[in-house]
Amino acid sequence: MALVKRCRPTRAGGLPALLVGALAVATTLTGGPAHAAGQGTLHELAAAQGRYFGSATDNPELPDAAYAATLGSEFGQITPGNSMKWDTTEPVRGQFDFTKGDVVTDFARQHGQTVRGHTLVWHNQLPGWVGALPSAQVEAAMTHHITEEATHYRGVVSAWDVVNEPFNEDGTFRTSPFYTAMGSDYIATALRAAHAADPDAKLYINDYNVEGRGAKSDALYALVSDLIDKGVPLDGVGMQAHLAVQYGFPYQMQANMQRFADLGLDVAVTELDVRMPLPADAAKTATQTAYYRQVTEACLAVARCVGITVWDYTDTYSWVPGTFPGEGAANLYDENLRPKAAYSAVRTALGGDDGSGEGGDPGALKAQYRSSDASVGDNQIKPGLQLVNTGGTAVSLSDVTVRYWFSSENGASTYSTWCDWTPIGCSNVTHRVAAASTPKAGADHYLEVGFAGGTLAPGATTGEIQLRLNKTDWSNFNESDDYSHGAGTSYADASRIAVYAGGELVWGIEP
Ligand code: XIL
Repeated sequence: MALVKRCRPTRAGGLPALLVGALAVATTLTGGPAHAAGQGTLHELAAAQGRYFGSATDNPELPDAAYAATLGSEFGQITPGNSMKWDTTEPVRGQFDFTKGDVVTDFARQHGQTVRGHTLVWHNQLPGWVGALPSAQVEAAMTHHITEEATHYRGVVSAWDVVNEPFNEDGTFRTSPFYTAMGSDYIATALRAAHAADPDAKLYINDYNVEGRGAKSDALYALVSDLIDKGVPLDGVGMQAHLAVQYGFPYQMQANMQRFADLGLDVAVTELDVRMPLPADAAKTATQTAYYRQVTEACLAVARCVGITVWDYTDTYSWVPGTFPGEGAANLYDENLRPKAAYSAVRTALGGDDGSGEGGDPGALKAQYRSSDASVGDNQIKPGLQLVNTGGTAVSLSDVTVRYWFSSENGASTYSTWCDWTPIGCSNVTHRVAAASTPKAGADHYLEVGFAGGTLAPGATTGEIQLRLNKTDWSNFNESDDYSHGAGTSYADASRIAVYAGGELVWGIEP
């Protein structure tokens, strides 16, 4: 997708419900005030809904100027990915070093961003000296660490992940030097120490796999209920939301958030990413896009969901490939800092446009196909194709193309192509045959269909496009083994027909 991050030009007037001609699109894409309704950054869109939209970052990334530019402009909140953790801030007992964390908070201040502090008490990235302490000294060491760090960042950090990942998957407490020394009381002790050091910071317990209902979130619910009953200072629950397309969407996420909110707590999505087994394909990308959209919708549906933080915004700096071998592509932007379909989906879920500057979410397009040709062995191929916009915003068709793959068999290497009929007018449809750059059995050529322009309204379809092609020597095909061929005679979703927007695959599986 040719997504551009800038103050997008506005569109004049409303769009007719179906297809708008090419000229109408061309004339409405120029000029207009910046940041009209639906425009602005992710954070501006979230802020209009009373939320923030943030990103994690890390010190080695900040010298990357292109990265830092988007980090500083698109996001309203920053979480340091590593530089406030115990192994960085107190590697040796009593010797504190906030240099790296300060670099991140300086960046945030320069860009008008709030900071979530991450994290004071965690079993990981914990220097060895803590675990080596005699049990009787752990509480004093923990309290001292919290006091020093939370005092240092007082007035700078607006919310702290005071305790990170206290639970096992089955809802029992995780063993750590803190749990071993103090039992689960360490959590209340840590929260009280943080509150004493910075009474204005919002204090959170943060964990993963607590986004949906289940044993782990039930345990968290029981814990925070108990802490509230005891008057322990606690403001919110952080749901990390490290999701994966192969594990499904968290069970009843919105209802789960709501039950924490109903206790009087804030809820934050603190580390969102949606990884997938590599290589990415259209189906995995569609699932990822849906998950990002659903998380955003869940947060917006819960009044006390205060915001969303992605665990860095680009695949370039994702923790996923290093932690989950063979998985990746988890972030809103790709490794070239280009926003993905997930970015558009989050924007539209936040009430904005899709960010393309052209209107619409091309990721919402799907292809349908029927065979208009009962004879698979004659000298013509006659696919019927149509596009459907399943999204909530109008999609510009000017850079959309559709591919139908077939095998040429023997015979001429030149082709004639035809649009026989379509309700949008064959003059609005372009068509050609091209040789596949990587020929496969059943797919050494493809018919490519494009559009002179126009816009597909939400829920609208182009209507059928009756296409036809033949070799210029009129020799026969054998369509039965063609990659995109199907026998169905009424329109149905077709995963073997690909749809591209701006050259990027948005629907279907390539051969
Ligand atoms: C990760 C960082 O992103 C990595 O750079 C580091 O090597 C390991 O930690 N849950 C958390 C985060 O709470 O602190 C983790 O961050 C990701 C999982």
